[in-house]
Amino acid sequence: MRQSYAKSRNLKRFLSVAIGKRRNSSGEDDNTEDKAFSVKQINEMEISHLRPGWRCFSYEEILKATDGFHKDNLVGWGGYAEVYRGVAEDGEAIAVKRLTRASSDEQREKDFLTELGAVGHVRHPNVSALLGCCVDGGLHLVFEFYSRGSVSSNLHGRTIDTPTIAAKPTWKLRFDIAVGTARGLHYLHKQRRRRIIHRDIKASNILPTESFEPQISDFGLARWLPSETTPTAAGNGACDVDRCLAPEYFTHGIVDEKTDVFAFGVFLLEIVTGRKPVDGCHRNLLCWARSYLNDGIIETLVDPRLGEEYDMGQLKRLIFAASLCTRPTATLRPSMTEVIRC
Ligand SMILES: Nc1ncnc2c1ncn2[C@@H]1O[C@H](COP(=O)(O)OP(=O)(O)O)[C@@H](O)[C@H]1O
Ligand SMILES: [Mg+2]
Repeated sequence: MRQSYAKSRNLKRFLSVAIGKRRNSSGEDDNTEDKAFSVKQINEMEISHLRPGWRCFSYEEILKATDGFHKDNLVGWGGYAEVYRGVAEDGEAIAVKRLTRASSDEQREKDFLTELGAVGHVRHPNVSALLGCCVDGGLHLVFEFYSRGSVSSNLHGRTIDTPTIAAKPTWKLRFDIAVGTARGLHYLHKQRRRRIIHRDIKASNILPTESFEPQISDFGLARWLPSETTPTAAGNGACDVDRCLAPEYFTHGIVDEKTDVFAFGVFLLEIVTGRKPVDGCHRNLLCWARSYLNDGIIETLVDPRLGEEYDMGQLKRLIFAASLCTRPTATLRPSMTEVIRC
């Protein structure tokens, strides 16, 4: 029997208020940021400030769009969801993220509201665009579809057989992706009244558009932080064996914007070197790169697949930014405002 998550009182209330308010919305982007990280908080927030661009999809709509969640349309999965490619009734390519992996219904609802609460509030050329959600037959978020896979699949090859168009990761592409991602992160940290900490910046969560504009996606772990710079204990999510995590996050679960800055530094190293943050033999990219960074032997860091085809000036900028961002002491790392000036 089909499970309706809209039966959840909190979720139902949230969505009905959101939709009712949006009908009266002027179409402006939000200018007041809200806490959105628990059902309780979602219910308390000023729903009228949600981005008006998204809508509720019916289950029939997303079922039809994805051909009944056909396995051929599965384009990716991560810690808590499966993502299917689809075509909406108006012909627009969509990605339907179905939340499947949480330990309980309650956790799944929390993950859903976390992502909806964050991505539903933001609008930037380098942040993935939410089209809507569906709470019937499960919990689903609907996004624009990005056909080029993730930066991870473009750098390291696809993990599943999908028709996404991977591109040769040329230097120009890598540099543009680094700059676009920095801009998106700067927007989340600095251009909003209340900061959003993404907490999961990594190559599989950066999705290039058709024209290779990187989109920061997957806000399932995101946190709103107050406008003043007080680090917050995140509680969970700091345990990930495939990543190099910021020391304060790994050890104490402490999160602030410098946690994202550290992850961005590792992302830069991944783009330059073409190496995974932690490879199949558990070798850590940052440990490997550290001696070259310290000695300034930066050419050795360049992905051998690039040969001589890279720009030395741009390489120096990326490596300089990466070495500052990955400083072990959080307070010594730059802010994203400083990073984009590097
Ligand atoms: N909008 C999208 N367009 C195309 N592919 C996507 C889109 N969103 C996610 N994906 C693919 O699905 C994968 C998992 O999505 P993600 O949102 O990161 O899920 P999780 O929260 O489970 O990690 C991504 O790495 C990417 O390959
Ligand atoms: Mg992900």
